[in-house]
Amino acid sequence: MDALDALVTRRSVRKYKPDPVPQDLLVKIVDAGRLAPTAHNDQAWEFVVITDEQRRHQLADLADYGKFIADAPACIVVLSEPTRYYLEDGSAATTNIMLAATALGLGSCWVAGDKKQYAPQIVSLCGAPENYKLVSMIAIGYPAAIPAPKKRSVDDVLHWESFRGGS
Ligand SMILES: Cc1cc2nc3c(=O)[nH]c(=O)nc-3n(C[C@H](O)[C@H](O)[C@H](O)COP(=O)(O)O)c2cc1C
Repeated sequence: MDALDALVTRRSVRKYKPDPVPQDLLVKIVDAGRLAPTAHNDQAWEFVVITDEQRRHQLADLADYGKFIADAPACIVVLSEPTRYYLEDGSAATTNIMLAATALGLGSCWVAGDKKQYAPQIVSLCGAPENYKLVSMIAIGYPAAIPAPKKRSVDDVLHWESFRGGS
């Protein structure tokens, strides 16, 4: 699958088959994450892959809109040192991770991290230093259902030369 196909076909998947995700695919996915751009080339992130069922349940219990992490065979937690651009950098890595998952035939869903009250508890659950930031948790698994959310059209969002310019 080429990059554009991955972009077009990626959807947030919240229902997964129970089949485990092979470890070599999880390594490929994290590898895609660490290749994302970062401000000043900081690369201040860390990726914690959680497959253990009990730990996935602990994540799901904390995440108000991420209960499905309990049923996803894997969850990649994106953490970062608190650099100036940690959120942008971590978000770029999160997107790379989801696109790589799509390209490998997997489904994924971004579960919010930064700004959530539970962030420090997830950081601690991952065994990371207390000052680290939680950027995202990405549930990953083979899709059991792929939703089709309504998207704004390119004509609606594209402005030539100025915000007032039409597409
Ligand atoms: C910053 C961010 C936080 C998100 N947090 C959650 C979340 O906590 N739970 C969830 O189910 N989906 C979450 N999502 C996924 C969005 O709901 C999803 O991207 C949106 O509905 C569009 O669907 P699509 O990803 O299939 O295009 C999050 C997405 C982003 C970018």
